[in-house]
Amino acid sequence: VREPIQPDPGAEQTRSLWQLDGNGAARPPLDRDAVTDVCIVGAGIAGLATAFQLVRRGKRVIVLDDGPVGGGETGRTTAHLASAIDDRYFRIEQIHGSDAARICYESHNAAIAWFEATAREERIRCGFERVPGFLFLPEGEDSELLVREMAAARKAGFSDVEMLERPPIATLGEERCLLFPRQAQMEPLAFLYGLAEAIERWGGRICCGTRVHAVEAEPHLTLRCTGEMSVRADSVVFATNSPVNDVVTLHTKQHAYRTYAIAAPVRRGAVPHALFWDTSQRAGESGAYHYVRAAHVPLSAGVADATHESLIVGGEDHKTGQENDANRRWQRLEEWARLRFPIEGDVFARWSGQVLEPVDHVAFIGRNPTGANGVYIATGDSGMGMTHGAIAGMLLADLITDRPNEWERLYDPARRTIRTAWTYAKENLNVAAQYTDWFSSGEVDSTAAIPREGGALIRRGLRLVACYRDAAGVVHERSAACPHLGGVVRWNSAEHTWDCPCHGSRFDAYGDVLNGPAVSPLAAVEDAAPARQES
Ligand SMILES: Cc1cc2nc3c(=O)[nH]c(=O)nc-3n(C[C@H](O)[C@H](O)[C@H](O)COP(=O)(O)OP(=O)(O)OC[C@H]3O[C@@H](n4cnc5c(N)ncnc54)[C@H](O)[C@@H]3O)c2cc1C
Ligand code: FES
Repeated sequence: VREPIQPDPGAEQTRSLWQLDGNGAARPPLDRDAVTDVCIVGAGIAGLATAFQLVRRGKRVIVLDDGPVGGGETGRTTAHLASAIDDRYFRIEQIHGSDAARICYESHNAAIAWFEATAREERIRCGFERVPGFLFLPEGEDSELLVREMAAARKAGFSDVEMLERPPIATLGEERCLLFPRQAQMEPLAFLYGLAEAIERWGGRICCGTRVHAVEAEPHLTLRCTGEMSVRADSVVFATNSPVNDVVTLHTKQHAYRTYAIAAPVRRGAVPHALFWDTSQRAGESGAYHYVRAAHVPLSAGVADATHESLIVGGEDHKTGQENDANRRWQRLEEWARLRFPIEGDVFARWSGQVLEPVDHVAFIGRNPTGANGVYIATGDSGMGMTHGAIAGMLLADLITDRPNEWERLYDPARRTIRTAWTYAKENLNVAAQYTDWFSSGEVDSTAAIPREGGALIRRGLRLVACYRDAAGVVHERSAACPHLGGVVRWNSAEHTWDCPCHGSRFDAYGDVLNGPAVSPLAAVEDAAPARQES
């Protein structure tokens, strides 16, 4: 493991609207070996929702995270809390059957109710608010899709979904649109910080700055962590967004996408509090797709918060590591938003994040399909990771405490869905195609061609080297081979990260791991010169 390098300011990732006024809530790291009932890896929504359910059932719980609470995707979400399924009820019914569509509706509905009850009972001030959701059509698109979706949603139990003749905002077009009542929104980090405090009040323990490297099954279920520390537990939950305990199985059934978001000021009351999505291509197909909501204005945005709110607009997804044009995507989001909403002033936050799209559109929550007993996972968020996280909390707590739960079969990570065989094959052919990068000549011939705060691949004999030049001109080199399964990482110039196009592992500019499935940094380049000063 390399020596930690103090990041230069140029190597910072973007910050979401919620992160502008402070990024993550840290806790001290694990300082000695521990024994507990349940150890949860990951202090995002899935990990903390599970911890909360379990401490309330009297379990001794330790949560470990290598960053701060909320330092992962939960800090980057737009937190639409929806029981309107973004991959559509009719697809869930087609692939999994009508009973599964009903369970989908009931579980996402229960998730929203859980956020509401927890915010109220634990007195978490996170602006939780019930709002309507609107699914609208891009200009000229046929409303047949909406008709199918309304029928499928009603059949699944969402009996009061309605077809409206027009969206509630005239600039969203003149086509019909679907209204989904009783959706919700909140400030995700405010909720997560409040939840972390509630877990601690109920006797749970949260340790930050503690990376889990390995899980051992014998003689006892044991996690190996930073600083040679270990935690022995009866049950272990990997809530690391992408499961870092699984090398292959799950990563062939889900695929990593980047999604983009911006926040800009609008006059208070100018945009109704509601969730909006259009039916442009969803992630999983790479496409425009837009999602919209309003929120508070962060202090550091420099906008008068008494008179203004933030408008958040997201979308423009693509497969991780397969495009590097974030500025164009943010620009397109802004143009799209300015044509439809009364934005006053400049966009004050631009960020991106990662979502994992399961090939059959349902998250993987339950017993880890391979390896030791007592290991559980929550992954495959599918752009609905907030409600999926809350579902993970309820379902995993039931599995761990031996209570029956009707949702178990639908979310079972070991499930096989024959009806998605074509998507499965197509996505994995795309992964296989990424390995041809090993035959490429590199992106530049010498480090002299890399600008400050930029990165590029250079070929040196049989090796491809990931070179980053920092703000002071120093070049840092790592092997370009992803330590997960050997994909070639690519530079992400918006986030200053190395992203793997195969299964979505990500590394900071110096090669330290940010997102799994990889658990170790990019390796040192044995035949390359150490970091050196260049003009
Ligand atoms: C821009 C954007 C918009 C979105 N919009 C929505 C939305 O509107 N509605 C919705 O429902 N969902 C949305 N999502 C998805 C949702 O936000 C995520 O799916 C969800 O937050 C993921 O939560 P998580 O707990 O699984 O993962 P995370 O929040 O990423 O938490 C995982 C944690 O695990 C830790 N970790 C990882 N590896 C290790 C290790 N080896 N050792 C120790 N710790 C480790 C990480 O540090 C991290 O803190 C959006 C996502 C993005 C990026
Ligand atoms: S994430 Fe699997 S090879 Fe990189």
